[in-house]
Amino acid sequence: MNVSTPVVITIDGPSGSGKGTLSQMLARHLGYHLLDSGALYRLVALAAMKQGIDLGDESAVSQVAAGLDVIFSLENNKSAQILLNGMEVTEAIRQEAVSMGASQVAAYPGVRNALLERQRAFAAEPGLVADGRDMGTTVFPNAQTKLFLTASAEARAERRYKQLCAKGESVDMAELVRDIRERDERDSNRTISPLKPAKDAVIIDSTTMAIDEVFARMLAAIH
Ligand code: DC
Repeated sequence: MNVSTPVVITIDGPSGSGKGTLSQMLARHLGYHLLDSGALYRLVALAAMKQGIDLGDESAVSQVAAGLDVIFSLENNKSAQILLNGMEVTEAIRQEAVSMGASQVAAYPGVRNALLERQRAFAAEPGLVADGRDMGTTVFPNAQTKLFLTASAEARAERRYKQLCAKGESVDMAELVRDIRERDERDSNRTISPLKPAKDAVIIDSTTMAIDEVFARMLAAIH
C-alpha cells in the first residue's frame, strides 16, 4: 500500500465554465502538474476520425483509446503542446467537429475505462490540478480539494461569443446557447461518470463573477 500519495485538486464543471483557464492559472500558481482530461477525449475522437473509424462503433473507438500514442509537452512554461502519433494536434483537437465527437465517445464505458489509469498516472509530486467532468467523482475520489465550477448557459455562451468574435469568427449567440445546452444535456445524462459535483465538492457559480474573483474563491477553498 502506498500511503503517501501526491496532492490532487480536482476541478469539474460544464463546458465554458472557465475551468480550462482557471485550472492552468491554479497549476501555475501552485507549481503543480496539470491534467486536461477533456483533451484525452478530444484526442480519442480525432484519432478515430483520422483512421476513418465510425464514431458510433464503440468497440473500435475503445481500441483507439486503449492504444492512444500521445505526448503532452510543456515548452518554456507555455501551455502544453499535444502530439498524437508524433504529429502536433494542439489546435486540431479544439475544432467544433472534434468537440462534438469527444462528447460522443466520452459516453462509451470502453473509452472511459481505457483512459482511467492514464489519467491517474498524472498524479505526481509536487501535486496535480485535474480538470474535467468526473475528476472528483471517479478518477480521483480521494482528492484533497474538489471544486465544481459552473455558470448559467447564457453566461457561458456569452464568454464563448466574445472569444470567437476576438478571433474574427462570425457566430450566432442563439446557436451557441443551444450547442452548450445540448452538450450539457449529453454530458449530464450519460449513465457512466455523468457531469455532476462530488458530494464533497465546493461549488462555485461564476455567472456574475470576474475571473480574478473566481480564482480567489478557489484559493480560499484550497487553504
Ligand atoms: O472539457 P472539454 O470541452 O475539452 O471536454 C471535451 C469532451 O469530453 C466533453 O464533451 C466532455 C468530455 N469529458 C468527459 O466526459 N470527462 C472528462 N473528464 C473530461 C471531458
